[in-house]
This record gives sequence, C-alpha cells and structure tokens, in this order.
Amino acid sequence: MGRTILVTGGAGYVGSHCVAALLEAGHRVVVFDNLHQGHREAVLPQAELVVGDLADRDAIAAAFAGRRYDAIMHFAGNIQVGESMRRPFLYLGDNVQCAVNLLEAAAAHGVSRFVFSSTCAIFGATGRASIDEDAPVAPEDAPVAPGSPYGESKYLVERILAWAERVHGIRYAILRYFNACGAHPHLPLFEDHDPETHLIPIALDCALGRREEMQVFGNDYDTPDGTCLRDYVHVCDLAAAHLRVLDRLDAGSRAYNVGSGNGHSVREVLDAVRRVTGVDFPVRMLPRRPGDLPRLVADPSRIRAELGWTPRYASIDEIVSTAWRWRRAHPGGYAELARARG
Ligand code: UFG
Repeated sequence: MGRTILVTGGAGYVGSHCVAALLEAGHRVVVFDNLHQGHREAVLPQAELVVGDLADRDAIAAAFAGRRYDAIMHFAGNIQVGESMRRPFLYLGDNVQCAVNLLEAAAAHGVSRFVFSSTCAIFGATGRASIDEDAPVAPEDAPVAPGSPYGESKYLVERILAWAERVHGIRYAILRYFNACGAHPHLPLFEDHDPETHLIPIALDCALGRREEMQVFGNDYDTPDGTCLRDYVHVCDLAAAHLRVLDRLDAGSRAYNVGSGNGHSVREVLDAVRRVTGVDFPVRMLPRRPGDLPRLVADPSRIRAELGWTPRYASIDEIVSTAWRWRRAHPGGYAELARARG
C-alpha cells in the first residue's frame, strides 16, 4: 500500500530522483525544500511542494500540519567537501541544526521512520582498498574524525540519530552515498548545482565548450595514475536503495554504504567523458583540493546481502551517457528548461 513520505531536499539532485522512484512505486510524496540549491522544475507534478527552510521551525510545523507521514527521507543539506573546508561552521552548524529541527518535529508528530542521506566522506583516510560499514571513521592518529567538516556534519547527524532512536523510538536507515552521478534515463531530472563543483558535469561542460579547460585537482596522490579514486554510483541506483531500505526499516535501524565497489580515477572519468561525447578538451593539472581524500571506494557487501541491492548502471560510460543526454539538451540547466516550458 502506498505510504506518505516527507522528502526534504526533494527538489535537489538525489532527492528529486528519489521522489520519482517513490512516486513510481505508488507512494505519496510531500517535498520540503527551500529552493536555494534545489529547483522547482525538478519536483514532478505528482508530488506536493512545500517551500520552506529546515532552519525555520515554524515552516517545518506548517509542513506537518494536517498531514500524517509514514516516513521522512532527509536529503536537504550543504554538500560540498571543498566549501566546507573554507566555511566549516556553515556545515557543522546548519547541517546539524536542520537535522535536529526535523527530528524534533518527527518525534513530536510520532513519525518513527527516518532515512538519512549520509556520505562516504564520513570516513577519514582509511587507507583501505574498499570501505565497509565497519571501517574506522577516525584513523587512529587523526585528531578530527572525517576528512572534512562536511563529512563531520553528516557523521554528527548519524550519532544524533542513535539518540533519536533511543529516546524517541525513531527507526532510521543511514545511506552513505559514494559519488552520486548520472541522470534519469527518461524523466527531465539531472544534476544542476550553482556553482557546479562536481567532476562529471564540469567535464561535460568542457565537452560542450562552455568551459575552456578541465582543471584536475592533484596528480600526486598515492593511486595508480596519481589522481583521486572515487566510486561513481548512478543516482537512480541510489534512489532504488532508498526504496529498498524503506521496506526494511521496521526490522531495525541500520547503516549502509552505497556504492558500486568499483573505483575510477579522475583521469579515467575524463576519458569516459571523451568517449561518450566524442569531444576532446584541454586538461590542466592543479594542486590538490583541500579536503579531498585519495581513495573512496565502497565495499557494498552489506547492502547487497541484506537488501538485495546491486547497481543497474554498471559502467562509467553508461553513467556518463545519461548525464550527457540532459546536459546537452539543457546546458543552462533547470532555468533553461523552465524558460523552454514557458
Ligand atoms: N575534481 C577535479 N576537478 C574538478 C572537480 C573535481 O579534479 O573540477 C576531482 C576532485 O578533486 C575529486 C574528484 O574529482 O578527486 C571527485 O570530485 P567531486 O567534487 O565530483 O566529488 P567529491 O568526491 O569531492 O564529493 C562528492 C559529493 C559529496 C560526497 C562525496 C563522497 O560532492 O557530497 O562525493 O565522495 F560526500
């Protein structure tokens, strides 16, 4: 039977794809989003959009008034590793306080199922080939646990969830995404950040000639080709993981690392972009970006075994192709899509 789900950040990149999956599965969706980073056009018409900020308790109260939610999916938040190294308190403050405000409302309204968008950035430099859920968040000699204030903010919320369960009986699932990428195969949903900082959309802009050169942040890492390794997981596969975890929530709280298990270097991703687009573009090597870790690759054994989840988009070329389709159709992103729709 369809449930009613409150989706914070549902106008954002991962959130909007998850809303699509929830609707497709027959659930009712209320999106709560301040539209600072999200886009009105990314909210499918079958979902209800409540524009509001999680920093504003009255706005949250309005989103709960007269509605009964079976579960909350919390995507909203500041998401840039690099920015968090420059503005740590934005992350350690806002990301944490907004989650607390939401949990307070959940407890007050008796909503006892909560799915949280976390990140593999909670793990510090583990030095491991792949990261399972038991990997240390804090390497033994690290004074601060995760590699960035962004990762720390997500980790703090993970800890707070344990208290939400203990005190208020809220069952939660934590999904620690590795690198979300790609776009919906047929609905007009895609990645559109302002400013864009992510590797694949920036490389696609280079292929489109919208940027003069691709800047690569560091080629002196201890990795096979010197550039960082990441685990690129298609955004629709992430959405599918949310659906699976929703059905399992009543069995108990749990954390899952969500990635493909395959690592791709920055150079390999740029090669994939060249193959898919058929366009070559200049690349410039720059120093390392603060906060970047050399290697973040998932060991997805737990989510595979317990939820039967495996990524449908297995190859990096296939992932890049889905992103390319929308980037090429709408280089100006959702703003352009809105103008085209009149
Ligand atoms: N990179 C470049 N040039 C660019 C952009 C990125 O070289 O112009 C490099 C980065 O240095 C990094 C890799 O490409 O080595 C991936 O960078 P992204 O910015 O695309 O992604 P991140 O790995 O930094 O972070 C992303 C999300 C986070 C999430 C994290 C988990 O932004 O929310 O993945 O790894 F937590």
